[in-house]
Amino acid sequence: MTFKSPADKRQYVNAMFARIAHRYDVMNRVMTAGQDKRWRKLLIQQAQLPPNGSLLDIATGTGDIAFEALQQHPNLSQVVGADFTLPMMHVGQHRWTQRYSDQQNTQILSTGVKDRLSWSGADTLHLPFPNNNFDAVVSGFLMRNVISVSQALSEQVRVCKPGGRVLILEIPRPPDNLLGTMFRLYFHNIVPFLGGLITGQRDAYTYLPASADAFLRPDELKSEMENAGLGQVSYTMLMLNTIALHVGIK
Ligand SMILES: C[S@@+](CC[C@H](N)C(=O)[O-])C[C@H]1O[C@@H](n2cnc3c(N)ncnc32)[C@H](O)[C@@H]1O
Repeated sequence: MTFKSPADKRQYVNAMFARIAHRYDVMNRVMTAGQDKRWRKLLIQQAQLPPNGSLLDIATGTGDIAFEALQQHPNLSQVVGADFTLPMMHVGQHRWTQRYSDQQNTQILSTGVKDRLSWSGADTLHLPFPNNNFDAVVSGFLMRNVISVSQALSEQVRVCKPGGRVLILEIPRPPDNLLGTMFRLYFHNIVPFLGGLITGQRDAYTYLPASADAFLRPDELKSEMENAGLGQVSYTMLMLNTIALHVGIK
């Protein structure tokens, strides 16, 4: 998939996520056979948040990473979910409210966890937060979509506290080996078919494998993170080396 300009890509991404918002979560579960929940859990574990810490989940979408953070650390002082596609966050807000309308969650409700999550309409290339503000800045499946990886990283590092962590969960460019070829076959054929069936938006799930093909390899993303000023950058490969979780320290 090619775009006429960076602005064209930005607009496509924004409008596309608005179109699939209502079925996004279902498609995620089906496409990853439920494994995406495990990756988000690991991401929050690796964020090593301090007690009463704060977290920014950029490109929060329907909120799964932010929810996981408060599930693992109900004592966080602040979790912000930010995204430029409001319909994605509307689905997330609805899910968050539903979660706490359940009687069983009355106890959690009394601890004030519900109010520790706030939502912010924001472009990740121009974050509306002060410098050195969050203990961890995380994103899931964002970086393939941005029009400037270096600008996105620079903003993530800017709003992260010194000593805090920046984490990126993403689908890197598949390797040029048998596994990569098999993944491409699945990604370029089965996923668009399933996406068309489940969301009615086949093009969104044609863009998905194309954006992974056009993205960085894990070592390249590691270098970009180092160039943005992060230290001790490392990554873990998941799901038969098709998903990467990068971590760096400011
Ligand atoms: C694949 S979804 C990921 C949602 C969520 N992080 C998750 O793990 O399910 C990508 C999200 O990135 C958001 N996004 C893409 N480019 C963005 C940008 N420049 N600024 C803010 N959000 C952006 C989209 O609106 C979408 O909600």
